[in-house]
Amino acid sequence: MRETFLPFAKPSLSEEAISEVVDSLRSGWLTTGPKLKKFEAMLREYHKVQYALCLSSATAGLQLALMALELKPGDEVITTPMTFAATLNVIEIVGATVKLVDVDRGTYNIDINNIEAAITDKTRVIMPVHFAGLPVDLDPIYSLAQKYNLTVIEDAAHSIGAEYKGRKIGSFGDIQVFSFHPNKNMTTGEGGCVVTRDNDVAKHISLTRFHGMDREAWNRFGKEGSAHYQIVYPGYKYNMMDLQAALGLHQLPFLDVFIEKRTKLVKRYYRKLAGFDPLILPKQPQYVHKHAWHLFAPTLNSDVAKISRDEFMSKLKQMNIGCSVHYEAVHLYPYYANKYGFKKGDFPNAEAIGENVVSLPLFPDMTEREQDDVLEALYTIFN
Ligand SMILES: Cc1ncc(COP(=O)(O)O)c(C=O)c1O
Repeated sequence: MRETFLPFAKPSLSEEAISEVVDSLRSGWLTTGPKLKKFEAMLREYHKVQYALCLSSATAGLQLALMALELKPGDEVITTPMTFAATLNVIEIVGATVKLVDVDRGTYNIDINNIEAAITDKTRVIMPVHFAGLPVDLDPIYSLAQKYNLTVIEDAAHSIGAEYKGRKIGSFGDIQVFSFHPNKNMTTGEGGCVVTRDNDVAKHISLTRFHGMDREAWNRFGKEGSAHYQIVYPGYKYNMMDLQAALGLHQLPFLDVFIEKRTKLVKRYYRKLAGFDPLILPKQPQYVHKHAWHLFAPTLNSDVAKISRDEFMSKLKQMNIGCSVHYEAVHLYPYYANKYGFKKGDFPNAEAIGENVVSLPLFPDMTEREQDDVLEALYTIFN
């Protein structure tokens, strides 16, 4: 058994990243400023996109993206119950209505075959989640969006660096929202980013993320800046600080390497767990994609395992192996069950995943030795 605890996720932070944060601290400029400007320029370049707007979180980005579309009460947003609660919470926060479509049991992504049946004359947005970094099959979704005049907001919290048919998520389509939470493929501590090619959406978010000030106001305390501004919209305070961007400046250049390392480890998991009945490994779809492998999240095969998911997780933890749940099906949380009358059986695939899924350790600096400890724990538990 391992002597020390192996976390299920861990950011890779270089000495340069740490020094860049210290540089911000020493400079006295901690909040939004020149480092954020530089980081946003890097994100635009990486995605070859016109607008990349950083925020305090992906949750903030999803909320402001929905607000930019000026939804009215009763407007419907289609998404899935197999996601982090934030995806649904923001729909509620902006006063729109959640419309759920179940996921595919194998990929955990929205079942594209069932989206059209969920579209009504109130539908305004489709919000697919690229679960664990696996791109959703976007072509059929954008075809539906075109047919019914809908906007697609991709919840890309897991999937910076992923590719769909040779194109980076974020380099095409309507709106994509990335998360830079420390467990994600790159981090700014907390943080998120909206990318878009839409001038109106970008303008709206650049206002709402900082109080609704009419122009770039971060430099109003500097020598060149003006202390005067107008408020043209009642905005939020969702800006990203330079302290956070400082990390991002030294994370983005390594993102593709981080994903390569994750992919190598995941391939090894697939090889070593081939034919290992207690676990069902996520399926790879037919269309061409590059998975960002934010998570390696198999489900327990309850017919074979003879223990519950929670017993399995506590055994792993006793053996010093970190693990987590991504996610329980969101429609069964009390708020959503009460408001919409959702109940068990409504979205069986999301429920089956939600009851059995376990995220196993996966991070770029994880060694094969550490991965062997995970595998050994699995073999021991299900011996
Ligand atoms: C699918 C999904 N959407 C949105 C979010 C929210 O991201 P953030 O923590 O940056 O607000 C998360 C975070 O884990 C997520 O997993």
